[in-house]
Amino acid sequence: MHRVAIIRGDGIGPEISEATVRVLGASGAKLTWVEVPMGQEGRRLFGSELPWSSLETVRRLGTALKAPLVAERCCGGVVVEAPGEVRRYPSVNNGLRRELGAYANVRPVRGFAGVSGRYQHLDLVLVREVTEDTYAGLERQPEQGRAEATKLITQEASRRIARFACEYAIRHGRRKITAVHKANVLHLTDGLFLESVRAVTAEYPSLVFQDRMVDATCYLLVRHPQDFDVLVLPNQYGDILSDLAAALVGSLGLAPGVNFGNGVAVFEAAHGAAPDIAGRGLANPVALILSGALLLEYLGEAEAAGRVRRAVAAVLAEGRFLTPDLGGRATTAELTQAICERMDSV
Ligand code: NAI
Repeated sequence: MHRVAIIRGDGIGPEISEATVRVLGASGAKLTWVEVPMGQEGRRLFGSELPWSSLETVRRLGTALKAPLVAERCCGGVVVEAPGEVRRYPSVNNGLRRELGAYANVRPVRGFAGVSGRYQHLDLVLVREVTEDTYAGLERQPEQGRAEATKLITQEASRRIARFACEYAIRHGRRKITAVHKANVLHLTDGLFLESVRAVTAEYPSLVFQDRMVDATCYLLVRHPQDFDVLVLPNQYGDILSDLAAALVGSLGLAPGVNFGNGVAVFEAAHGAAPDIAGRGLANPVALILSGALLLEYLGEAEAAGRVRRAVAAVLAEGRFLTPDLGGRATTAELTQAICERMDSV
């Protein structure tokens, strides 16, 4: 029996986390969910989006399934009241990752027959550094009409994410690492990132290394995404390009993800809380369900993970129960039910 934290999230979060709990329950894996209030639920119960007790629970359990949390668009960010210290982060997701020491955000992008068109065979992975860059929270307004953000890049964090990406590539039988940057303009910051990734990948002769400018990467991802395998990116480029990559295969609702740190793994979809469709039964739960499959794999439940993935692929290929983002009319509950029913025959 595995004890796993569950953060039900904001917006479409409760709908897709319920769907994921159902599908993982039908997979045969033995899971016990420990409810962890964060986001709006955290604020309601404990007066904070990131309650200290919730962070402690996730640290203790080591694994969490997390639905998206809303990051309010206002100044001030999110405060964490640690014993004897108050820490401030630009958003709840940023704060959660950094409080847990999760530095690597892995977002696999896979196409599916039936819904991904010409990219149904696409299979690439974005490995995004999530502790620094322009999201480090170093923003200030020295005077009215002027605002500044510091782009923080360190050799230590850049080497750490590069090593993570190389080890990930070797473990998953992948061949090529692409470092994404803008070092022709950001000579010092992106230059350091690029140089660090290049130095680490040189220690892995079985991997092919290449680097690409971030603007060219956008173009090439749309034109020839098959030429990419593992992309390693600083925080902001990783944030943006993972949405672009998800669009290639048909929807943000198909893109799973996980944040890894030392001794902690938080599994979450690449997308946000989708407030525009929240509470209407229109959300595609597949990205979180596939994040759940990654969680099962991480827990050593490879067979159950395989069953979930095959059931998802079969239902998408069949095309009878697709949510509106994939051009269908099914509700979240109908797609979830179809996946659960399909699990027995895959
Ligand atoms: P979003 O990813 O929530 O939505 C972008 C578009 O994709 C919307 O049209 C939405 O309806 C659609 N979409 C997203 N997921 C979908 C799904 N599963 N099924 C069907 N359609 C889906 O991005 P947005 O609107 O910029 O952000 C909304 C909120 O979510 C913000 O507060 C943002 O800060 C937060 N957010 C949280 C993340 C997290 O918890 N990891 C990640 C990204 C955003």
